[in-house]
Amino acid sequence: MLDQILPLLKDAHPWRDHIHWLSVTDSTNTQAKLLAMEGAPHGTVLLADQQTAGRGRRGRSFHSPGGTGIYMSVILRPNCPPEKLMHLTCAAGVFLCNAIESAVGIRPGIKWANDLVVGQRKIAGILTELGFTSNGLVDYVVVGIGLNCCQAELDFPDDLRATADSLASVSGQDISREVVAAAMIDQLHRMDNLLFSHQISIMERYRRDCITLGKEVSVIRGDVIRHGLALDVCDDGALQVLYGDGQRETVNSGEVSVRGMYGYV
Ligand code: BTN
Repeated sequence: MLDQILPLLKDAHPWRDHIHWLSVTDSTNTQAKLLAMEGAPHGTVLLADQQTAGRGRRGRSFHSPGGTGIYMSVILRPNCPPEKLMHLTCAAGVFLCNAIESAVGIRPGIKWANDLVVGQRKIAGILTELGFTSNGLVDYVVVGIGLNCCQAELDFPDDLRATADSLASVSGQDISREVVAAAMIDQLHRMDNLLFSHQISIMERYRRDCITLGKEVSVIRGDVIRHGLALDVCDDGALQVLYGDGQRETVNSGEVSVRGMYGYV
């Protein structure tokens, strides 16, 4: 797979010497964190054909069979305090949409905060994990992306079949994972270049991609569920919600989970 990805990147692509391919691993995020702790450089990319313990947000697993998806983790070392990175996962969503649009010609929507969807179904998820230095700065960030590429409906397990989809089935095309993976590496590198200097325009693009805005949502905090309207996304990625009693709240993805009130999106 790497043999087919590298020729698709510019010769001078700054990340090209730090891209690793694993046929099977537990989780590219877990392995990327270990590599980062051992000093792996900024721009290290881990790709796996299959994960045996793929992880999603909130302790969920991420279904990661071989031969069908892209499981990628990128190590970044932004050298800043963590509060400067609040918009990182939203930015990763925007640049992942760019990559899919350039490779396949379809631009997915983003379900706040960071699920990529086409129609009513999820095609990709993003898990961002941070490691800290002893003085509280960010030592490394691992941006992990799982993208369903080639699955047919029946390839998904029963519990995912109603809510998951793949690039192949939404586009009706044969998907080259190599082409999509190269576009992802390219776009994540672009994101890295623009993350701080272009935060406002990245978040403007995020709002245009975000299908949650204007929808009724359930805000779930522990056992408490409140229903409201998703009004806006702030420049740090937090969601503004207007509740039925007129109260407004700004929620961030670390503290709550938001569901559409009438199904997955
Ligand atoms: C989610 O949907 O909640 C996030 C899913 C993130 C899955 C990707 S696959 C590559 C990387 N390795 C993991 O274990 N998780 C992320």
